[in-house]
Amino acid sequence: MTDTIEIRKGLAGVTVDHTAVSKVNPETNSLLYRGYPVQELAATQPFEAVAYLLWHGELPDASQLAELRETERSHRALAPEVRAAIDLVPLDAHPMDEVRTAVSHIGSSDLAGNGSVLDASGSAEENLARSIRLFAALPAIVAYGQRRRRGLQPVEPRDDLDYSANFLWMTFGEEADPVVVDAFNRSMILYAEHSFNASTFTARVITSTLSDLYSAVVGAIGALKGPLHGGANEAVLHIFDEIGSADEVVPWLDAALASKRKIMGFGHRVYKRGDSRVPTMKAALDTLVAHYDRPDVLALYDRLEAEFVSRKGIYPNLDYPSGPAYNLIGFDTLTFTPLFVASRVTGWTAHIMEQAASNALIRPLSAYNGPDERHIEGYVPDAAELVAAVRPEEEVA
Ligand code: COA
Repeated sequence: MTDTIEIRKGLAGVTVDHTAVSKVNPETNSLLYRGYPVQELAATQPFEAVAYLLWHGELPDASQLAELRETERSHRALAPEVRAAIDLVPLDAHPMDEVRTAVSHIGSSDLAGNGSVLDASGSAEENLARSIRLFAALPAIVAYGQRRRRGLQPVEPRDDLDYSANFLWMTFGEEADPVVVDAFNRSMILYAEHSFNASTFTARVITSTLSDLYSAVVGAIGALKGPLHGGANEAVLHIFDEIGSADEVVPWLDAALASKRKIMGFGHRVYKRGDSRVPTMKAALDTLVAHYDRPDVLALYDRLEAEFVSRKGIYPNLDYPSGPAYNLIGFDTLTFTPLFVASRVTGWTAHIMEQAASNALIRPLSAYNGPDERHIEGYVPDAAELVAAVRPEEEVA
């Protein structure tokens, strides 16, 4: 029986459901958010407008954008109790643990009073409001985490700055150059959404049980933490630090490939001929390299890419240019994956709302390959158990 079942490990190549949020086309190397190529959005839109697009299906007009911005700005400041919850996370824990804890805390405060699990999943309006709340709070969570690890006081948000400029303000305590704001804004847009990736699928699975949006986002954060998914942008910088300079690339790569190491920032489950987001992020990295006058970073980047692609035929993914870009801006390496959360929360919540609007419990089957049926020595089943045992086959949760 088991022999006849086709198992697709990692669900590779399996189509699970429809989605109108984004379309990944590996054949044409394109990524569309609600129909718009991501490169066009990154070149023309503020991140707030892309968040609106992902949630509503259309780009906002001027008044819709102004309304979203006003709401977002009103939720930027971190509540003292969320700050206190973050402070309980050990300073040497991974910042993703802080982010997960903070989102969980915001969720439990927001849902307080919803005593029954039946009330928690929320209406479409409630879920949109929850999405905006998380979108608005995440920059403060990420910025606070980096500052507390550096022993610095938190910086309060500024109402006169847009999302990206304010994010950098809260992290570094000074207004960022427009070149830096623009590169950062592009990275936020490029990371925002990518169809049924592991963390989004996790969020959809949790939503499918009629759990609440915050629980789904917390689960997604856990999935994103892994180095095969979001953790890769952080891992790219560890590799850059290990290599040191462009001159060391060849001996380093010889040794890494000889020991069968995975080179982080290369390869993709869906794109096999290059990640469509890389050229846009590489262009943003180029502007940062010029701004900070760091040609050494570009030399290492180019050499490692050329060597690895020529040897393995595996191309860079978005994490490859974004890791060094975030490093140049001044983010600590451990903060990179939390930045990914701040961006991807828009895509996750769009999927959560889509799943909720057309829900079916996600519950796949498995092919058992453990020991054959066996029994506890001396155990005698009673009559009721014998009756249960002959009921027709059915799935139990
Ligand atoms: N470095 C070295 N070898 C790699 C590689 C990498 N980054 N990515 C893939 N390969 C090799 C694998 O070792 C495997 O070789 P084999 O057939 O000789 O065993 C082959 O390419 C297929 O790899 P596989 O891991 O099965 O492909 P996948 O589609 O399941 O994996 C990733 C995709 C992303 C998990 C994989 O490319 C990877 O681990 N990349 C590094 C992590 C990363 O950057 N993640 C961010 C993704 S956006």
